[in-house]
Amino acid sequence: MVKKWKAIDKLSFLLIAALIKVSLCLYEDQVSKWDFRQSFVGRLKHFVAYDTHSTPTIVLGTEKQVLASIYLKNGSLNWRHVFECGPFNAARVEKEDGNVITVNANGLYVRSWNAKSGSLVSEYRLPESIVTENERNSDYFNFYIKEKGNEIVCAKFHQSSNRKLQFYVYTFKSQNVKESKIVAISKQLSPKDCAFVNENYFVCLDVNSLEISYVSLNDDVKFTTLSLSYFGLQSSGVPENLKLVTFNHQPDVENPYFAIDLNGDGHVLIRFENKELKLVKIFPKVKQLYIESVSFTNSESKYGLFMLISKPESLKNDVDESANVKVNKDLHQFKVAIFDMENWQEDKALMGHFTVKSNSPIIVNSMFIIPLLQSQKYSYKILISTIDGSLFLSSPQGRISWRREEALASILSAEILDLPLSELDATIEQTLGFSSENILTQFLNRVSSQIIQLQTYFTKIIADSMEAISPSIVNERGDENDENTDFDGSDLQSSGKELRTLVRDKFGLHKIIVTVTEFGKLFGIDTLSGKIVWSVFDTDLRNSLRLNPPKKLSIFVQRTTAHFPYSAKCTIVSKDGLILSFNPITGQIEDKKQLNTQVKQTMLLYHVDNTYLKGILILDKDNFVHLYPETTNQVLNKHKDTYFIVVGEEKTGLLEGYGFNAFSDENRKANRVWSLTLPTSESSSKSRLQIVFKRHGEHVHSQGRVLGDRSVLYKYLNPNLMVVTIEGTDPTISEFGKKFSFITLYLIDAVTGSIIYSTIHKRSKGPVFVVHSENSVVYSYYNEKSRRTEISSLELYEGKTQVNATSFSSLHRQVIRPFIEHQNFIFPTGISSMVDTLTEKGITNKHLLIALPSGGILELPKAFVDPRRPINPTMEHREEGLIPYVPELPIPSEGIINYNKSLVSVRDIITAPSSLESTCLVFAFGLDIFYTRVTPSKTFDILKDDFDHWLIAGVLLILVGLSYLSKWLAARKTLNNAWK
Ligand SMILES: *[C@@H]1O[C@H](CO)[C@@H](O)[C@H](O)[C@H]1NC(C)=O
Repeated sequence: MVKKWKAIDKLSFLLIAALIKVSLCLYEDQVSKWDFRQSFVGRLKHFVAYDTHSTPTIVLGTEKQVLASIYLKNGSLNWRHVFECGPFNAARVEKEDGNVITVNANGLYVRSWNAKSGSLVSEYRLPESIVTENERNSDYFNFYIKEKGNEIVCAKFHQSSNRKLQFYVYTFKSQNVKESKIVAISKQLSPKDCAFVNENYFVCLDVNSLEISYVSLNDDVKFTTLSLSYFGLQSSGVPENLKLVTFNHQPDVENPYFAIDLNGDGHVLIRFENKELKLVKIFPKVKQLYIESVSFTNSESKYGLFMLISKPESLKNDVDESANVKVNKDLHQFKVAIFDMENWQEDKALMGHFTVKSNSPIIVNSMFIIPLLQSQKYSYKILISTIDGSLFLSSPQGRISWRREEALASILSAEILDLPLSELDATIEQTLGFSSENILTQFLNRVSSQIIQLQTYFTKIIADSMEAISPSIVNERGDENDENTDFDGSDLQSSGKELRTLVRDKFGLHKIIVTVTEFGKLFGIDTLSGKIVWSVFDTDLRNSLRLNPPKKLSIFVQRTTAHFPYSAKCTIVSKDGLILSFNPITGQIEDKKQLNTQVKQTMLLYHVDNTYLKGILILDKDNFVHLYPETTNQVLNKHKDTYFIVVGEEKTGLLEGYGFNAFSDENRKANRVWSLTLPTSESSSKSRLQIVFKRHGEHVHSQGRVLGDRSVLYKYLNPNLMVVTIEGTDPTISEFGKKFSFITLYLIDAVTGSIIYSTIHKRSKGPVFVVHSENSVVYSYYNEKSRRTEISSLELYEGKTQVNATSFSSLHRQVIRPFIEHQNFIFPTGISSMVDTLTEKGITNKHLLIALPSGGILELPKAFVDPRRPINPTMEHREEGLIPYVPELPIPSEGIINYNKSLVSVRDIITAPSSLESTCLVFAFGLDIFYTRVTPSKTFDILKDDFDHWLIAGVLLILVGLSYLSKWLAARKTLNNAWK
């Protein structure tokens, strides 16, 4: 009997698995229909090579440890390699065979690549005597790759003292190392202040004392220090942000050039002449310098110095008063001047200039020149990388061929937001909104607006048909190559025309993704096309994020688009108190404010003020409460008993809960209600604390779970429940002198601070990903003992009776102690991010979305991680629909929602509901961005694509016809019968 049951279990398991397969399949013609992926490379760090033959490409190295080849013509990606962790130190093309040599992870990997195909040619390692495995992330190194001879020059600073360093020359083909004696510098300098000018000279710039030190590697290796005043350069009193600039191409290897960037005020060109420094020229107002070989008019190839000069003031487009149209875009003009390095004559004929449209400042980070020989005539292209991650290519005539927004490779956080109502719906909304008028006027308003609606409907139809006839719209930028239809990170700013059509659709599938990036640049991305709708770069935000890099930065949605005529409003609050508020639909920055304090915790109030705005509560380091905007003070005052905030301190494991009972206009301090110290490691630097609440405003469809015997198990739905996980090192268990780390998880009531449940995973480490929703918590960690990733799942239940069905209070005298089901599972691969799906009403099943290191995003039904999965299934379990417990979780390839569109280093996934209950919107970001829809319970509220409307209509018609026919026949029959 038992055996028979087991067989049936397996069968039912297979059946369920088969059903899941069906729901997740994607047809061939659905590829890219609802999803888009855009691949990025990161902000430019090394310009490596250009190849202007048959298909012109450029090879770049970036700050995201990527080596990439990009088509010169359209800016799309040719190939890309992402390196392992550790800095991308240097890259250069080898003169003899044209291969690209890269040094990364401080020389742990020295590789040579085929520049055309991107295939790996060979790989070497610097010997242990120079770099060890532990030093892969350190910053003691400078590298220089020689143009010829397969040699790498390396400068290594001593860990103990920054004043000592040693040089090595490594010939990687023969694995031969030459090392210099240990050299001392008089200054406390770091490798960041230094650079190789070429293989012979190493230069350091001390920004504080304004001194320059250099060493020649050819003879007696010894530093010489000079003050910048030796060149007649005077500091203006303010400590300046000077930077060393080195050049890849040198006219004369014995006497190389380098430059000092005077913080945007100009450049100083310096040259080694007979092993001594000589000031060549000072170029005030020059933004960038670059040396490249040029064939000047009527002469053979020589070296030229290219200079990027920004025109004094960016030209604002005139506001056309008469047409009453405001053009909000500023034009930034740049000029490229070229000097012959032999006689310092400027060649006016080759001069270039271009204009960049942007409503934010353009700060050029680097400029590169790509020489071209077009029909025997010398020409060049200008490649510009800006500080906000834009990369674009311009011709000297000012035509910008393409632009990539590489800031999107560094997204900190994102939100998917609703679009506003169309103008039409908005007017209707408006007529309904003002209920102060009497019924008759309201009715008349309604009727008139519906007439308008009808009118606009017809005009729209006419306009649409006209558009279909008229020729295609001229590209706004006037580009020659209009083939920008792909989505490979090329900037596709839509014009005002498209902006106007950004309105909500019926099913809430058309939305806007708002993102904040590490560079302080914000983007709005259309979910249907993947196009960038707007982008804004804010220098204050950039500085704030650079000085205090946050792990996570929330975008607070203070007001959605649902409250016409008020526009939507989003706000970000940085750690050092910068508040930036913007309109998520237009990207307009509406407010910027700086608090003079460090921010400890932030929270969005859930009560709105009379303009439907939710305030942001900011707790500063002295426990003072700031509200943004100030006016929401009243809201907090009114509901102060219902607000609580929790602060966790990573180092000490101290958790504190604050209330606002005593809050008033005079006393703006939060009062501490409870505190709790969680055990961490003794070397507290390694603890990592994470607090996870449920999603704000989550809908719970069902309060209980129906069991096999038709009784109900009620869910424990405490809205104040938080999950706290902390990683620490165990001081006691020690084997072979190695300390083991552990992970503890607590379920704590945020209002009272009482611990509801806790569990410890010994010999385990992070990263811990937590999914907390309804009555369930799913989290993942790495088990060091078994060397595998595990997913742990727990569910909380009140029991078979419910204490209070309508509300929950943490302060209730009769505290509910939930009972908890807990189960662990083995996950076959690592995890780089984990979230759950979210739908409008919470009726649809929840699935987990797990980003895998291999590049896939797995959609795993939550039933697989149900802690109630029985080991010995009974009839009742089957009735309840539970899958028998198997420790290993499956990774079905049909469950990979991004099919073959692999995503590299996913940082986070966000989900948002659409207006269709079945559909959840997903946006994943990392080095790539990916957007799609998922339907966890299949598309039960959507007709299939291949739904045959004609057949159904035909069948209906026939049925109606038949019923009339049969009615007629029946009537005739009864008549005939009556006559009998
Ligand atoms: C860009 O140009 C390359 C080379 O001509 C081509 O292979 C690629 O498909 C182009 N990309 C797009 C999106 O047009």
